[in-house]
Amino acid sequence: MKLFDVYQLNDITIVKAKDSYVWDENGVKYLDMYGGHAVISIGHTHPHWVRRIEDQLHAIAFYSNSVKIPIQQGLADKLGKISGKDDYQLFLCNSGAEATENALKLASFHNGKKKIIAFRKSFHGRTSLAVAATDNPAIVAPVNQTDNVVFLPFNDEEALKSYFQTKGNEVCAVIVEGIQGVGGINVATESFLQLIRHLCDQNDAVYIADSVQCGYGRSGKFFSHDYACVNADIYCMAKGMGNGFPVGGILIAPHIKPKPGMLGTTFGGNQLACAAALAVLEVMEQDDLIEKAKQRGQYLMNRLKAIKGIENVRGRGLMVGFDVPDELKDLRKNLLYKHNIFTGEAKPNVIRLLPALTITRKLMDEFLDVLQEEIASLLSVQVESSVGN
Ligand SMILES: Cc1ncc(COP(=O)(O)O)c(C=O)c1O
Repeated sequence: MKLFDVYQLNDITIVKAKDSYVWDENGVKYLDMYGGHAVISIGHTHPHWVRRIEDQLHAIAFYSNSVKIPIQQGLADKLGKISGKDDYQLFLCNSGAEATENALKLASFHNGKKKIIAFRKSFHGRTSLAVAATDNPAIVAPVNQTDNVVFLPFNDEEALKSYFQTKGNEVCAVIVEGIQGVGGINVATESFLQLIRHLCDQNDAVYIADSVQCGYGRSGKFFSHDYACVNADIYCMAKGMGNGFPVGGILIAPHIKPKPGMLGTTFGGNQLACAAALAVLEVMEQDDLIEKAKQRGQYLMNRLKAIKGIENVRGRGLMVGFDVPDELKDLRKNLLYKHNIFTGEAKPNVIRLLPALTITRKLMDEFLDVLQEEIASLLSVQVESSVGN
């Protein structure tokens, strides 16, 4: 049987990983500045995480949500403490798309309305409503198309106000990434998020903070939306939550009340996933990783800003992006194949850096030195070829 061919693959097979490094089948070592797709928060194969999963596996891996699962409460307590949202409620699922899908659905159950405001360049996942709220027609199937979602320009306060002025009473929810990831590392301004909060309050709409990529400490705060100092009604989480173990969830404000059967899932919140997620929070707390992400991210950004050739360095904490001009279009490929460094991308010309929150300054220096060297080499080839012409 063939695999369904939907991924653009690099011709590399990764077989081993440790903290910020991964190794291929030939023993070649790679620096992971991509965090395995923004997923690795506490470092690959962290020993505490491995041990917790192993111990849980020997006790019980899975039993359904038809029985009490105390480790879910343990996870909720720890999440409440570390995120500062201890009066919120936790619903667990398995992925980012499921988190946003459940958030949107819950918002609609809550206020009985249908209209969703999303923003240009947003990405919220590939399930039905999540993909409908994603600004990429190429991945929206005809069956997912709906008039219930409207896209407004990101960070445009006037456009948001004017939409609410005319249709505010119809708005069910506003869904927004604190830092757009797939869209190219675009940081939501604090005043934009504050305005969303204000307009949602005025119009009985639900403010949904999609923190799947920008959350879980990566930005230097637990949720990047927290920089605006206003609370969302629902926070979506996944990626960094399990450090590679598939787990997602939503945090739900106390005024949104549950009803039996309103949401549900077979696998969500299983014992093994909770053990992985708890291990992540324990390491984050013990090693002060949120503060470290902030400081290391600042250092990374400052040094990137001093590198000539790349443009618009931006981001927060360890969620950083920059534009790559046309003359450096081979930069990402060369970093991977010449220098064994994984980075992320956002089309058409953005490099995304999403390393583990445990990355050291030494490793960042190594990366930055290589980056600088490779940029100089690409630019010198350009100069030579233009002199030769
Ligand atoms: C902001 C955001 N929301 C949702 C998702 C969907 O997550 P998943 O791929 O786990 O379904 C992603 C994935 O990249 C994302 O970046």
